[in-house]
Amino acid sequence: MAATEGQWVLMATGRTPTNIAVIKYWGKRDEALILPVNDSISVTLDPDHLSATTTVAVSPSFPSDRMWLNGKEISLLGGRFQSCLREIRKRARDFEDEEKGIKIKKEDWGKLHVHIASYNNFPTAAGLASSAAGLACFVFTLGKLMNVKEDYGELSSIARQGSGSACRSIYGGFVKWCMGEKDDGSDSIAMQLADETHWNDLVIIIAVVSSKQKETSSTSGMRDSVETSPLLQYRAQTVVPGRVLKMQEAIKNRDFESFAKLTCADSNQFHAVCLDTSPPIFYMNDTSHRIISLVEKWNHSEGTPQVAYTFDAGPNAVLIAQNRKTAAHLLQKLLYYFPPQDKDLSSYLVGDKSILGDAGVHSMEDVEALPAPPEMKVPDQKFKGDVSYFICSRLGAGPKVIADESQALIDSVTGLPKGV
Ligand code: DP6
Repeated sequence: MAATEGQWVLMATGRTPTNIAVIKYWGKRDEALILPVNDSISVTLDPDHLSATTTVAVSPSFPSDRMWLNGKEISLLGGRFQSCLREIRKRARDFEDEEKGIKIKKEDWGKLHVHIASYNNFPTAAGLASSAAGLACFVFTLGKLMNVKEDYGELSSIARQGSGSACRSIYGGFVKWCMGEKDDGSDSIAMQLADETHWNDLVIIIAVVSSKQKETSSTSGMRDSVETSPLLQYRAQTVVPGRVLKMQEAIKNRDFESFAKLTCADSNQFHAVCLDTSPPIFYMNDTSHRIISLVEKWNHSEGTPQVAYTFDAGPNAVLIAQNRKTAAHLLQKLLYYFPPQDKDLSSYLVGDKSILGDAGVHSMEDVEALPAPPEMKVPDQKFKGDVSYFICSRLGAGPKVIADESQALIDSVTGLPKGV
């Protein structure tokens, strides 16, 4: 059967994790190609807790490209999706499925329209790098469908053109996005520094902070910073190069003290750049500042860092604890200051719920009985409702194909999202 005839639907499904930067990307030197002004380093989160799942389908019967995100149709006209689609199509190779009688020549992929259905296993609006996981998943899965050669560096450079931070979600564990030097961006790719097993006692607790404020998107925020912040230039040229080298060493040696100090300093400098932007950008709020203060005081009282914090373009805190014991202590302190609004503890901590057991917290009575953290000066003040919920996670693996067709998000007969 020729590629452009018939009623068949061919599809692939993939799952891709989100990532959180410990050395931040902030600022582009080329807006169209998404080339950054500095290197960045991230940790990939466990896809069981924070990931995007995407099914991509092609069929001669599709009259146009369409996309559904979390069940709702969205526009595909944005230049970034089109760039990724174009770059993958360019690299598509001949494909044959003898069983289904489908044969597609590499030059015919461009004549086939795509349907894309994607969903995030965490709230898209929570500001947790959903675009990074989503774009990376789209590129990874489309590459599988179109039989693109498995070159993760190249896939990362395509994902980069969808959203800068997406290029780091192509790998698990610890990942570096090398800014590159070339004008065409071909050397601006991500690479894995170490996989998720290298330092697997780290525990990540995310505080999803309640926010009614409409936030400035990363894209427009960093554009304003590049245009107006002198601190951004200093950071990119003078501070980050040294920090990246030190961070690589800290990761290699599993040196938590250096890792934590660098992570916190880099988050704070990124937010200082935001304040140095005209008009200033405020991503963190009072709750974010309270969490920083809690961690700083605790780290100081112990004489050595127990926990690292980092904040992206929003108020949510990503807290990285050295091990489970420290994470359990951290959780006790967080629950003391930020008890749940209602009595439902089980939906207040999602992800790896077993950490609650480690913290000795099984009920709301246990939360109420938690002792005041001794390092804090005003221990009796509590901020009920200021955190929406917590996610307990860990480092995770990179993208993977989901071969089981029953898990596909698109119906193999209609070519539409299941349930539509
Ligand atoms: C603060 O990747 O969302 O999360 O490239 O314009 O799509 P675009 O921006 P995006 O920026 C992420 C910025 C950050 C830091 C980081 O992830 O390194």
